[in-house]
Amino acid sequence: MNRTALVTGASRGIGRGIALSLAGRGFDVMINYASSPEKAEETRQACLEAAGSNGHTIRAEVIRANVGNGDDRLALINFCREKFSHLDLLVNNAGITSIGRADILDATEENFDRLMAVNLKGPYFLSQLAARWMLETQSASSPSCRGQIINISSISAYAVSTNRGDYCMAKAALRMMTQLYAVRLADEGIRVYEICPGVIESDMTAPVKAKYDKLIEDGLWPIRRWGQPSDIGSAVCAIAEGAFPFSTGEVINVDGGFHMRTL
Ligand SMILES: NC(=O)c1ccc[n+]([C@@H]2O[C@H](COP(=O)([O-])OP(=O)(O)OC[C@H]3O[C@@H](n4cnc5c(N)ncnc54)[C@H](OP(=O)(O)O)[C@@H]3O)[C@@H](O)[C@H]2O)c1
Repeated sequence: MNRTALVTGASRGIGRGIALSLAGRGFDVMINYASSPEKAEETRQACLEAAGSNGHTIRAEVIRANVGNGDDRLALINFCREKFSHLDLLVNNAGITSIGRADILDATEENFDRLMAVNLKGPYFLSQLAARWMLETQSASSPSCRGQIINISSISAYAVSTNRGDYCMAKAALRMMTQLYAVRLADEGIRVYEICPGVIESDMTAPVKAKYDKLIEDGLWPIRRWGQPSDIGSAVCAIAEGAFPFSTGEVINVDGGFHMRTL
C-alpha cells in the first residue's frame, strides 16, 4: 500500500513542486486547488509521470476546495476519505499574497479577512480534520508514526514588510500553530513541522522578479540564486520519509541562508 499525501494549493508553484517530489518517491497524492482546474490536471499528469519514471505506480486525484471556507474544507477531507484509506501526510501549502500590497496605514479589513481565511484559518482547521482522520485510521498499524503535518510558512514570519502586514502576521501565526499542533499531537504519534521558504520562483513572485534578480546578485542571501519549488519538495520528502523521527515543531529554513544575520 502506498503512502498518501494531501497537498493544498498544488496546481501551481511550490505546491506543484511538493506534489511532484512526493509522487517521484511513490506517494499517492491528493492535489488540491482553488480556481485552476487545468493547472491542477497538469500537476496530476506530471505526478503520474514522475512516479512512473522512478518505477512507482501511484494514484493522483485532483480536488477543488477553497481552504479558507469551512464547507469546502470538510468536502475536501470527505472526498479524500472516500478515495483513500488513510492519510500519512498533510502539507498546508495553499496561500495568497497580500491583496493589493497596501501600506499598513491604508490596508482594508476586507482584504485582511480574506487573506487570514486562506493563509491561517484554512491550515488551522484543515489540520484539525486531517489529524482526526489520521488518528482514526492509523492507530493499530503504525502507533509510533501515525502521520505528519507540514506547514509552509515564509521568511515573512519574521522579516517585516510594511506593505504586506496581513501576510507577515499570518505566517508568524502559522509558526505558533505548528508548535500548538506539535505539542498536542506528540503523544498521538503525529509529528508537525514548519518549512520556511525564502524567495521562491513562482507566479506569486513573478511581479517582483526584477527586484529580486538584482537583490540576489547583490548577495541578499548567501546562496545566490532563486529558490525553486523543487527545493521545497526535497525538504518535504526528507520529512515525509521519516528523516526527523525525534523532532517535532521544528522549523526547517529553505531560504539560501537568508535567516542568518551577517556582519
Ligand atoms: N513564492 C515564494 O517566494 C514563497 C515564499 C515563502 C512562502 N511561500 C508560500 O508558499 C505557498 C505557495 O506559494 P506559491 O509561491 O507557490 O504561490 P502561487 O504560485 O501563487 O500558487 C498558489 C497555490 O495556492 C492555491 N490557492 C490559492 N488560494 C487558495 C485557496 N483559497 N484554496 C486552495 N488553494 C488555493 C492556488 O490554486 P489555483 O491555481 O487554483 O489558484 C495555487 O495552487 C504559499 O503559502 C506562500 O505563502 C511562497
